[in-house]
Amino acid sequence: MGETSQNSGKESGQRLEQDERQKDIMRKGCAKTALWTVPVFCLWSLALAAHAFAADDGVVKLTGHGGPIKAISISTDGKRALTASFDYSIVHWELSDSEGKIIHRMIGHGSAVNDVAFVPDQQKAVSVSDDGSLGVWDLETGKLIKRIRGEPFKALDVAVSSDGRLAAAARWDGTVRLFDLTTLSETFVLEGHKGNVNAVAFSSDGSLVYSAAYDGQVLEWETATGRFVRPVYRHGWGINSISILDDDRLAFGAINGAFGIVSISRAELSSELTKRERPIQTVKVSQNGRLVGYGDGEGRIEIFDVASLTAIEAATVTYGPVWDFDFLPGQAKVFHVGLDDFATRWQIAPRKLSKIESKFPRRFQRVNSSDPGELEFLRKCSVCHTLTPDDGNRAGPTLHAVFGRKAGSLPDYIYSKALLDSDIVWNEETIGLLFEKGPDIVTPGTKMPIQRLKSVTRRDDLIRYLKEATTPKN
Ligand code: HEC
Repeated sequence: MGETSQNSGKESGQRLEQDERQKDIMRKGCAKTALWTVPVFCLWSLALAAHAFAADDGVVKLTGHGGPIKAISISTDGKRALTASFDYSIVHWELSDSEGKIIHRMIGHGSAVNDVAFVPDQQKAVSVSDDGSLGVWDLETGKLIKRIRGEPFKALDVAVSSDGRLAAAARWDGTVRLFDLTTLSETFVLEGHKGNVNAVAFSSDGSLVYSAAYDGQVLEWETATGRFVRPVYRHGWGINSISILDDDRLAFGAINGAFGIVSISRAELSSELTKRERPIQTVKVSQNGRLVGYGDGEGRIEIFDVASLTAIEAATVTYGPVWDFDFLPGQAKVFHVGLDDFATRWQIAPRKLSKIESKFPRRFQRVNSSDPGELEFLRKCSVCHTLTPDDGNRAGPTLHAVFGRKAGSLPDYIYSKALLDSDIVWNEETIGLLFEKGPDIVTPGTKMPIQRLKSVTRRDDLIRYLKEATTPKN
């Protein structure tokens, strides 16, 4: 990350440990758990593969986010979807055969949203974010019912029990948190993993919850008491994703590319379906339990028939990682998400081929410019900010005409209280200070991630470029 520092004082020890782990992952491959910069790193190898093809059925896209999409979840009737994005928002979609319409854009997390799930039989959803909290949403109104705060540790995965009473969140502080959705409170902190917890899943009756982590273990817990029951599986590498197949079987995907099925009662591997030495990012089971599949770090989705445990289809559907996908019930179709700011539908069968739609490189993947200031902007700001009025807001407000703007004053952007209450007027000096000292010092309480640019030359280059690129021309 160059001189950009993402450490905050009190958690820096822990963060350092995470940084070490992240570096470790980068050496081994790409994990879904890494920072947003990591996929960029991972794409080097893909940059040359300009002729990948995806299968589709007339390309149905869900377009509306301002950044990469981390997760997608489709309702049991197949009529609605939820997407969680790096742009801090969740979008609730109404699906038809040919398109997706936005019902609500749901804003309330203070950081990237990593996962979202429907609460069965209720007009509600739950989400988890880099801000560490669990969001509970009213899908009728699109409003946040409650944000149950945790300490500032990433929460990566969320699951809901089939009766809609409980939620579980997988967190990077090594714990699983259990929540009671009736009382809207945290009930238990499940401690036992060594390392970041990446995934959680409930047993079909909701009495047990399974968790999987960087330590390569799948652990079983009792939801009524929070008691640790037993280890169910130990894999040599970190596990990124798990999904329940039936009362005795659980599918998992690991950082070393292993995708397999574990027998829960026997607590052992029952079949290894594939191992392609690319990190598996996500594992999904169709709602009728007949299909299971994975999405990997290099854009591949592979689907298996559960009865025969044979591969039935595979395709490279995108450039970069498949962070998540979900099956449309009763149809051989999935929606997948990753570095693009839209979700794409892929018809598995009958399979048709067409060119991958995403632009490459995506705006935040450009890493070359002869202007050093533009280079800083592309690397450190462009994932969250645009420079022109027509491109609008992303996770952060547009920086168009930011010089001379009073902090927190754009009418169509939802700022934190910190910026709304601030008296700062943005100019060369104040923006310089913002990245010399860090947004946490200059605008305490801001949603903007902690980052510092220590080099005076690079700061000056960035500010000169920003001024050129954001000053209205007429
Ligand atoms: C991960 C997302 C993210 C990145 C990266 C990021 N920002 Fe921001 N930025 C935000 C958010 C969110 C806000 C709004 C903060 C708030 O409301 O507290 C913001 C606010 C700002 C503001 C105040 C604008 C206003 O209208 O008051 C400026 C200036 C700014 N960012 C500049 C930058 C620059 C320059 C960079 C690159 C060095 C950068 N940001 C990188 C998310 C980001």
